[in-house]
Amino acid sequence: MSFSQIGVVGLGIMGAGIVEVFARAGYQVVGVAESAPAVEAGKANLAKSLSRAMAKGKLSQEQSNEITARVSFGEDFGLLANSDLVIEAAPEILALKTDIFSKLDSAVKPTGILATNTSSLSVTDIANATKRPEKVIGMHFFNPAPVQKFVEVISTAHSDTAVVTQIVDLGNSLGKHLAQISDQPGFIVNKLLLRYLNHAVQILDSGQATKEQMDAAMRELSGYPMGPCELLDLIGIDTCVEILKTIHADTRLEIDEPAVGMVQLVSAGNKGRKSGSGFYDYSEKLDVPTDSNDEVKNQVHNDLLIAYLGDCIAMEATGYATKADIDFGMKLGCGLPKGPFEVIESIGLENVRAAQAELAERSGVSAYQPLPL
Ligand SMILES: NC(=O)c1ccc[n+]([C@@H]2O[C@H](COP(=O)([O-])OP(=O)(O)OC[C@H]3O[C@@H](n4cnc5c(N)ncnc54)[C@H](O)[C@@H]3O)[C@@H](O)[C@H]2O)c1
Repeated sequence: MSFSQIGVVGLGIMGAGIVEVFARAGYQVVGVAESAPAVEAGKANLAKSLSRAMAKGKLSQEQSNEITARVSFGEDFGLLANSDLVIEAAPEILALKTDIFSKLDSAVKPTGILATNTSSLSVTDIANATKRPEKVIGMHFFNPAPVQKFVEVISTAHSDTAVVTQIVDLGNSLGKHLAQISDQPGFIVNKLLLRYLNHAVQILDSGQATKEQMDAAMRELSGYPMGPCELLDLIGIDTCVEILKTIHADTRLEIDEPAVGMVQLVSAGNKGRKSGSGFYDYSEKLDVPTDSNDEVKNQVHNDLLIAYLGDCIAMEATGYATKADIDFGMKLGCGLPKGPFEVIESIGLENVRAAQAELAERSGVSAYQPLPL
């Protein structure tokens, strides 16, 4: 099967980015959202991203015009009728996604593949809302979609292997690195990333460190492109809370319960950059967070890093993902300078295990214990 028209449902942070990915690659793209203002916001998201690329000299005005000309927008799902693939990027709420998929099932031609960009919800549950579950798949892009080179392709027990192969070939043709995985809450990257982000807000809530200390610690001591509070604001705190709820429903571990600080910000409407404020206020240009308290920075860096490395070791041990997929995912999906197994190799596995045991004892959280040998 060849893909000529790609549909995208939901035109927020991710949907607009996915529209751009396919339009840049030469596909005809149809972007649909639920209302006229949402469509206008989607158009503006695409225009802003293209202007940013032009300002950086990565795109000419002519290329930008060509990309824009390949995209049409609207509110009617009927516009998606001839799409060979439709990717849904609506909010991370299962009832909303199943409703969208049952409508897509009626609107899109029978041969069309339906994909969800969900970060954590069950792709199987979403597939069950259609009469073509064998053609429903997870295609999880990372933020910003035109920049991050990793995509998780999630198949379910329903999936037709030919459909999985077509999506993998398509993803490869976009220049993305793909990991093929089964349907588990949070998949590879978000299971690891969200636990790390939640841990950071739990530390913040406990008063052990400020957001600036934590963000500066991870930037300066691990070379991350941004700290956890900055990243929560970029992803959208509401989305992060929803992902954590799904992971928590699966693991039932206290460490996966969305941290109070995050839940309160969402209740107050402070969802991060997209709403103008979250942990930080985006009404003015922000400086990179700094802090001179090295003792606090070293401690939070140690705790966040060790807990995260322990999670990576545990994920690999279950057989869900390989070391290579985890390393690629964290580097190409989140922009981290090194994969966790590269970090473990440089620290030494025995040292990581000793630090896990120390963290578990000091914090009283048994989930931080190293795995039995
Ligand atoms: N934000 C991230 O970093 C990130 C990364 C990877 C995956 N995701 C996933 O992508 C999906 C979208 O997240 P986002 O951050 O782009 O959210 P967002 O809030 O920025 O955008 C959601 C979009 O969906 C639209 N929408 C709402 N209800 C709709 C409906 N009934 N029909 C059609 N469109 C509707 C909204 O108008 C908006 O355009 C979620 O499943 C999220 O978990 C997010």
